[in-house]
Amino acid sequence: MKFFIDTANVDEIKEAASLGILDGVTTNPTLLSREIKRTNRPYKAILKEICEIVKGPVSAEVINLGREGIIKDARKLAKIHKNIVIKVPLTKDGLKATKLLETEGIKVNTTLVFSSNQALLAAKAGSSYVSPFIGRLDDAGQIGMELVREMVQIYENYDIATEIIVASIRLPLHVIDAALTGADIATIPFKVIELMIKHPLTDVGVKRFLDDWAKIGSLTKL
Ligand code: E4P
Repeated sequence: MKFFIDTANVDEIKEAASLGILDGVTTNPTLLSREIKRTNRPYKAILKEICEIVKGPVSAEVINLGREGIIKDARKLAKIHKNIVIKVPLTKDGLKATKLLETEGIKVNTTLVFSSNQALLAAKAGSSYVSPFIGRLDDAGQIGMELVREMVQIYENYDIATEIIVASIRLPLHVIDAALTGADIATIPFKVIELMIKHPLTDVGVKRFLDDWAKIGSLTKL
């Protein structure tokens, strides 16, 4: 399973990349505008820096919603770096634009996917990635992971190459559930990556080993 980080915060991306576990990055207009505000830098500079930190796909989302607007935004974003993947919302115009962008060699991550029908349509349009938002489904009273399970099964049934990015992850348990479904990728917020590292028994164990070692005194100096 590939791990992406779901943030535009360059400090968080650097820290996660230093762990040696990062395969890519996803941003969205909310995350990118937060980083623009935090650093007072233009979006292009931020995306370029992210692409230099992580050697993998970096998703950046279109702002315009009509077919022509999506295509224009996508071409502009794709010029920033060869690893930029264009996030396009699952709409009629989004599907039309996806077909063309993928034939031009611009990779699309179909975003805001909340049903298996939408996932099928994204794949038929040729999208390289599809992002089901599980946390937001959970918030709406539906089991988000059920959607991922369906999608994995459907894509397997037809040998569909579109990669599933489990998005809107809120908890470490979401990552385990995503891995159990066989989804290709989980895009994880920084704070969830930190929680995944932590276990109280690890902390207790480290302390006990160090305390025992220290009891012997100078004989145990490395
Ligand atoms: C995915 O690509 C989105 O950026 C993200 O996962 C949305 O998560 P949220 O529902 O926590 O905003």
